[in-house]
Amino acid sequence: MDQSSDPKVSEPGKAIAKAPITKAPACTLVIFGAGGDLTKRLLMPALYNLALGALLDDSFRIVGVDHNPNTDAGWRQDLSDTMQSFTTDRTSEFHPTRIDPKAWGFIRERLSFRQGDFAAPETFSGLAGALTGNVIFYLAVSARFFGPIVDALGEAGLLKESDGAFRRVVIEKPFGSDLDSARALNARILKQGGENQFFRIDHFLGKETVQSILAIRFANGLLGPVWHRDHIDHVEISAAETIGVEARGAFYEPTGALRDMVPNHLFQLLCMVAMEAPATLDAEAVRDEKARLIQAVRPIQPKDAVRGQYAAGQEHGHAVPGYREEPNVAKDSRTETYVALKLSIDNPRWDVVPFYLRTGKRMAGRVTEIVLHIKPPAQSPFAGTGTAVAPDTLRFRIDPEQGLDIAMNAKRPGPRMDLGQVTAAFDYGDFFHETPSVGYETLLYDCMIGDATLFQRADSIESAWAAVDPVLEAWADAPVEPYAAGSAGPAGAEALLAHQGHRWLALGEG
Ligand code: BG6
Repeated sequence: MDQSSDPKVSEPGKAIAKAPITKAPACTLVIFGAGGDLTKRLLMPALYNLALGALLDDSFRIVGVDHNPNTDAGWRQDLSDTMQSFTTDRTSEFHPTRIDPKAWGFIRERLSFRQGDFAAPETFSGLAGALTGNVIFYLAVSARFFGPIVDALGEAGLLKESDGAFRRVVIEKPFGSDLDSARALNARILKQGGENQFFRIDHFLGKETVQSILAIRFANGLLGPVWHRDHIDHVEISAAETIGVEARGAFYEPTGALRDMVPNHLFQLLCMVAMEAPATLDAEAVRDEKARLIQAVRPIQPKDAVRGQYAAGQEHGHAVPGYREEPNVAKDSRTETYVALKLSIDNPRWDVVPFYLRTGKRMAGRVTEIVLHIKPPAQSPFAGTGTAVAPDTLRFRIDPEQGLDIAMNAKRPGPRMDLGQVTAAFDYGDFFHETPSVGYETLLYDCMIGDATLFQRADSIESAWAAVDPVLEAWADAPVEPYAAGSAGPAGAEALLAHQGHRWLALGEG
């Protein structure tokens, strides 16, 4: 994260000098998977937003590589059409009212296209002849190509850093499908380059609200003293979606909710809320603390895990099919579309505090959030008065709402000392100008400036897989519990918390 160049912060009522905006260094971005969805829906809008912010160097170039044929002019036109379509597509992550012709023109004229098979050495020798200076290779491709493309880049000499130029590779998720495959992939890519050349992306870390958790925790004196087993009873981390698997059945069938969301996205949320304070904001200081936290996660026992699969139901008042009726999904599929886990962290701060994680598709609400449940006061004059003392909660609202809520008790107006729960809520939009963002801007920019803070290091990825591996093994042949589309998930997930005397907050419950 480049702290010096954030043009976004505005303090209401307070004049502030704007920090100068630093352009990223000159480089060429080579996108493998140029014709794919990720390129169209997220990478191009993010590059456009960086161009809008004047953060790209004049000599910045984008080379698209795809196995499907196209031409420079054809690719430019396709992307221009898609960018234009976002102005009327309310479902996309990017929905501007208009496309700024100057900013899009900046990107458009820097695009060139090369058809190439990701398995053919000619694709890479051709690139080697065409590229000089700083280069970022972005692997916006299916995971099965990660290893082969990195091998081919290395063999073609494209990862050699000379004359002060950098050669970096951005690798999308899923990085491996279990501990063994993640280890093997790390070993394979690290034969071709140094750890500092590989940027393993997790787009949750591109979310402002996720990055801000560190600011809220470590830049304020208010919260630190309660951030501890003595005061926190339990923690809930939820990433609930209302959409189904859509057209991604072929990817999702062998993957499932656990691999798709837990060792990556949910563990990143876990790190943000549970890691110790790093000594500085340097990439390695932050990543060391994250690595320590993930290593302290006790391997999850199958009894602490629940898997569910959505059956037909209702979403926003419309009938929707069950997972097994989705395209490219087996009629007897046992892939989970929902997972709930109870996690324990073996360190002095969190020992005995349960962390409950859940994620699912086709659920009752779209909510990504972290809720800390605070223990009631050890001794209270309200004890025995007959008025209920509700436990306080602190809620980080990550998506789609963005803010922080503290729910606590106050006196209800009236002659008696009765309590009622109130919420102190802060919304990002009330304090900060919204910067147009699809979540990949900071990640791309950080890769250009060589800041790896928001990217996953090899050791953390492996520790995360190690934590979930016992569950993956146990689930290889396990049945899956159905839940109705549009519901809160399977009954087993309620039982998981009920054992401990806890319950999930309803999705969106205050
Ligand atoms: C992706 C998963 O990584 O994250 C998807 O593959 C999921 O299945 C998505 O829908 C959720 O991200 P977000 O930013 O929409 O919450």
